[in-house]
Amino acid sequence: MKNNVLITGTSTGVGFESAILFANNGYKVYATMRNLDKADALKAKIKANDLDIEILHLDVTSVTSINLALNIIIQQDGKIDLLVNNAGAGFAKTTEQSSIEEIKWVTDVNYLGVIYCTQAVLPFMRKQKSGQIISITSVGGLVGQPFNELYCGAKFGVEGFMEGLATYISDAFNIKITCVEPGGITTEFMASAIGKTAVDGQFATGEYLPIFERYMAGNQKRASESKEQVYQTALEVSDVLLNVARMENPPLRIRTSEWAEKFCILKTQADPDGTRIVNQIKESFL
Ligand SMILES: NC(=O)c1ccc[n+]([C@@H]2O[C@H](COP(=O)([O-])OP(=O)(O)OC[C@H]3O[C@@H](n4cnc5c(N)ncnc54)[C@H](OP(=O)(O)O)[C@@H]3O)[C@@H](O)[C@H]2O)c1
Repeated sequence: MKNNVLITGTSTGVGFESAILFANNGYKVYATMRNLDKADALKAKIKANDLDIEILHLDVTSVTSINLALNIIIQQDGKIDLLVNNAGAGFAKTTEQSSIEEIKWVTDVNYLGVIYCTQAVLPFMRKQKSGQIISITSVGGLVGQPFNELYCGAKFGVEGFMEGLATYISDAFNIKITCVEPGGITTEFMASAIGKTAVDGQFATGEYLPIFERYMAGNQKRASESKEQVYQTALEVSDVLLNVARMENPPLRIRTSEWAEKFCILKTQADPDGTRIVNQIKESFL
């Protein structure tokens, strides 16, 4: 039987491209999305290329919807081989000017959603004594950035969660754990972040505005100077996901581009892929 994969957030971007890539490379793909009205583009690809992809509803903030989707997979295949925690949403706004609802939302989608999906697959992978969990975090999961502190905090949370799992889940139950850390990706991510968080086109007002304007100018300068280095396509990031899925011993951490590697170097040079810290914790505690 083919290896199967559950991918979250496949309506657009990396989720969409990776669903197609994994199907083209021998996986049975369960492409999940929170809004099935957005499934037309993927349905067209499935039909045109006769892809082994089944589209299921799954909102990462709803444990009920996660369990419903997973039950379908287990009923059909009797197993789950790979979970790709891809769903996420950008958020750029000062902490002071964010509402409690916004703070909860950015944390739910980017952090708790990963935990809920992971918690749901673990009992099956543990019983199988095999499995793999890949979470797409970000360079923002290693380096805090201006106006992105709530998003970065959520991605840092995922990094810590995955690191903790890697210290015992992999050896005990043969479940591989990896964080894939992209820099910029040319998806709808920024546009939807701006749509959700900006008020009248601004992420900051009052005393924050001049700092925000400096940040935006710096961002534009950086992008115009080195767009091709900063940004990757969703397919390029999906290629990294497929490579990680094929590795016998995947690392805890992997950046997806040279730019991402350089951006994080002060945080990562002592232990680029997380192997040393995982080994040290295992030696200390287990
Ligand atoms: N783009 C970047 O520059 C960048 C950089 C570093 C890391 N990342 C990370 O890469 C991953 C993929 O992002 P992308 O660039 O492909 O962005 P994208 O095109 O905006 O895709 C995000 C996906 O997540 C889905 N999603 C949002 N909330 C959800 C929920 N509650 N339940 C299920 N799905 C939900 C979206 O669905 P809807 O269509 O329904 O909103 C969409 O399918 C994310 O984890 C993101 O944080 C992105």
